[in-house]
Parts: sequence; structure tokens; C-alpha cells
Amino acid sequence: MTKKELFQYDFEQHVREGLSAYPKFLSSKYIYDDKGDKLFQQIMALPEYYLTNSEYNIIDKFKTELRKEFETSTTGFDLIELGAGDGKKTKLLLRELCENQINFTYKPIDISQNSIDELSANLLDLFPDLDVQGEQGMYFKVLGELAHYNKRPKVIIVLGSNIGNLQHPEAIDFLTKLKDVMAPNDYLFMGFDQKKDPLTIQNAYADSQGVTQEFNRNLLHRINKEMDADFSVDKFEHWEAYDPETGTAKSYLLATEICEVHIGKLDLSVGFKKWETIHTEISQKYDDDIVEWLAHKSGLQVKKHYEDDAKYFKDYLMQVKA
Ligand code: AVI
Repeated sequence: MTKKELFQYDFEQHVREGLSAYPKFLSSKYIYDDKGDKLFQQIMALPEYYLTNSEYNIIDKFKTELRKEFETSTTGFDLIELGAGDGKKTKLLLRELCENQINFTYKPIDISQNSIDELSANLLDLFPDLDVQGEQGMYFKVLGELAHYNKRPKVIIVLGSNIGNLQHPEAIDFLTKLKDVMAPNDYLFMGFDQKKDPLTIQNAYADSQGVTQEFNRNLLHRINKEMDADFSVDKFEHWEAYDPETGTAKSYLLATEICEVHIGKLDLSVGFKKWETIHTEISQKYDDDIVEWLAHKSGLQVKKHYEDDAKYFKDYLMQVKA
């Protein structure tokens, strides 16, 4: 099976399982085809979606401090980014490192070769001397290979609070896998969106232009297109529920009418009652205690953290626990 066929197989198994369950669920990881990627770019530009600007503010404010933290070794280091996207925030750090002639290689890792090629071309326009070596593939496969053959210190960066789309046990699994490829002097620099006024969080995920609704609905469009299904997509509305006690923002698609959907490729019919839910995503919010607990459970320790002016978001610098 090719990687693409394997992904498609997983997606089909997931749809069968998620839509046969009660309550129904679908994972947000399947939102991201070309259209899903574009919708996420639009979300990041929304006034309500503060996460991007907050983290931009952090990197801008602390870029010199971060450069000094990372440039300790004379052999230079590898700056490895997981899920780089358009690299808007990373460019701030790259500029700081390039302008100060720091010896480093930038290695963005992404599942999409297309994203890597576009990002690399764009970065070379901006920073002609930058050594960019993008790697296409699954994070841990590529990281495992890098850890094996490359002995230079590593700084692994994971921005955007992507970890928030994982439940705590999955987040611990993710962090543990990162720890397993880290040497004692390597760094992990990771974004965690913070607990704050619940309304600010609610508004970030229930935007007034309905982009987040389209983002979630893309799951149904994909099932229609890729599995020969007949969802009436506009009959499903997005609903967001932030629970300030657990710090979990949950996204749902709600059936506004009773309906029956047939998924041809799976030979599956799925009935929806009026107001029945499909849970699509969690976006977990954190505080220092939760991040320290996650780090501890994963064999990591927090060295420092950096906060934006509005105190909405933090990036944590971690190392393997001594
Ligand atoms: C990618 N991830 C961190 C985003 C988030 O904030 O959970 C995805 C997203 N979902 C709705 N808006 C943005």
C-alpha cells in the first residue's frame, strides 16, 4: 500500500467507526485536505482567532533571548519544525538567526511535499544564505532517522498549540516520542494556548464569519467526495462548547434535521435524529501546572516559558528530565 492508500484506508475505517458509534465522532485530523488547509489559513487570519498573533508576539519579543539559548554549541544545530505551515511565525526566528550568522540548518517536516517545496522556495527568496533541508514524511519516522544519523544538537519546535488537538493521554504519548529522539542538550520549544476568559476562547472557535463552521463541515465534504456519500452539508451546523473547568473547547457538527446518509464506498447508511451531534475536535487550553504534569509524565522538564503581552499564550522550552 502507498502512503496515500494507507491514509485513505485509515480514514474509511475511522468514518465507519465514528459514525456507527453513539455519540458519533469524527477526528479533526481528516479536515486537512487542500481546502481544509486553506480554511485553516483563513481561521488564522480571523480577528477572533488570537492564537496566531499571540505566538507571533512571543517570538518577536523573545527572538534574541531564544537565539542566545539555542546558539550554545560551536558545531551549530538543527532547527527542526513539525508542521511548519506557511512559517509566518518561524520566519521571525529565522531572520534573527540569519542576521546574526548563526550556524544552523532549518529542517521543516511535513506530511505534504508540496508544502515543504513552497515553504523552502519562499524562504530562500527571503534568506538566500539559509540552509533549508525540508523532510517529507510522518513526524516520528523522520525524527527517528534524524536522531540516528545526525549528532548535532537539535531544537525541535512545535508551534500553534497543535498539541491541544490531542487528549491528555495522546499528548503524553506524543511528548514521550519526542523525548525519545532527544539528546540531553536538545531543546523542545512548544506552544500551549492558555486558559483565559472563557468568552475569548468561545469566540475564537465560534467566529462571526462562519469560517470555523466551514472548516468543520469540510469533514463531510470530504466524505461525500472521497467515499461517495450524500451528506446535505448545509444541514449540519457547527457548535462550540468551552468548559472552563477542564479547559477543553469541543467542536461539534449538529444535524438540524432528521436525515439518513448513505456512504456508498462503505456500503453504510447512517441515521441522524434532529439535533444529533458529531464531535469533531478538542482544542485543549492549559496552565503551567498542566504543562508541567504533561512534561513530567513524558520524561521532560520545563526549563523556561515565554508569554505574550495579553497573557493568552505560552511557549515552553523543555529538555529531557535529568
Ligand atoms: C490546529 N489547531 C491547533 C487549531 C486549534 O486551535 O485547535 C485548529 C482549529 N480548529 C478550529 N479553529 C482552529
